[in-house]
Amino acid sequence: MRFSFAREIRPSTFSQFDPELTSLVSKAAERYNITQPALTAPIKALENELGGEPASTRLLRIEGTSSAHSQLLCWRNTMTIRTTKILLDGGDASETERIKRLIGLLDGQTTNPSLIAKNPEVKKMVAAEHGLSIREQMDEYRKIVQAVSPLVGDAGVSIEVFAEEDTTADEMLDQGREMFTWIPNAFIKYPCTRGGLLAAQESVRSGIRVNITLCFSQAQAAAVYAATKGAKVPVYVSPFVGRLDDIGENGVDLVANIKRMYAGGDGHVAVLAASIRNLQQLLYCFSLEAELATVPANVLEDWARNGFAMPGSDFKYTATGKPILYQELTLDQPWQSFDIQHELTRKGLAKFAADYRATLSQTV
Ligand code: G3P
Repeated sequence: MRFSFAREIRPSTFSQFDPELTSLVSKAAERYNITQPALTAPIKALENELGGEPASTRLLRIEGTSSAHSQLLCWRNTMTIRTTKILLDGGDASETERIKRLIGLLDGQTTNPSLIAKNPEVKKMVAAEHGLSIREQMDEYRKIVQAVSPLVGDAGVSIEVFAEEDTTADEMLDQGREMFTWIPNAFIKYPCTRGGLLAAQESVRSGIRVNITLCFSQAQAAAVYAATKGAKVPVYVSPFVGRLDDIGENGVDLVANIKRMYAGGDGHVAVLAASIRNLQQLLYCFSLEAELATVPANVLEDWARNGFAMPGSDFKYTATGKPILYQELTLDQPWQSFDIQHELTRKGLAKFAADYRATLSQTV
């Protein structure tokens, strides 16, 4: 794999560069609601240190400055040129804080029942009380997203409804309506099933932002588009890359195919690449210009270790499975006409439900 690292800036260009960098950071601080931005202190220190003297001579005498500064430069370039919003895929606000400190910002976060079941506080409570009641589980979920909400930017926090195969659209909708009141930047995650799409259709009509999860096929993404047509609120669709790789298919192809299909549409659905398991997949999603990507902490840490690398024009993705071929689908038809069945949607729903149920007490 080859990375194209951020352009190198020579010390002699610092004087013209720093004001731009500083203004970018303050804009980011405003946009991402960062009160103590991780990067402000080093920038200020650097500016003070550099004041008045030629940067090149001063830099030689300031221990550690050049590495802090080169990190800032990489960060600045990456954040400027990227088009993909970065979300953390997690269920623990302390992890969100740690990753935000590492990266400098997070555009949003996605959660799901499996991630919530792994939350340290939830695990502690489940162990101490031999499981939670349904209300306690909801309360814990609410507290987690309320802690995460102010830490992230305008891509919001996705909160997933509990659903099994026989959960009705109305049951999902009731949960979605309640969850949407928890935080000002909520997106409600519904599964890409008949019930989930009915709930999503109704949700967008009443101004509820949605994220359709467990998407494994282009036909499902076409159905999401058709079911939410006319939405005045943002709509996300989440194709699951890693889980397609797990069954021997080249998961990133689905992201590429949906992007290509949506290019002929009205742009009301944003593609949120999910189930990202490694840096290669993330970089490929960047190169496809997926509108958003949700990424687990370990992959974001790897990205930071690699200097916030971006894919260059010579970036090559090493496919791991058999290609997923593009299908010619007409978006302009009723969503019920698309075949939305997928084995992985069924399995994914069952796994989320099992992880959720494992947090409940036996008497519930
Ligand atoms: O947010 C859901 C998704 O990202 C799940 O990822 O690794 O469990 O397939 P994974």
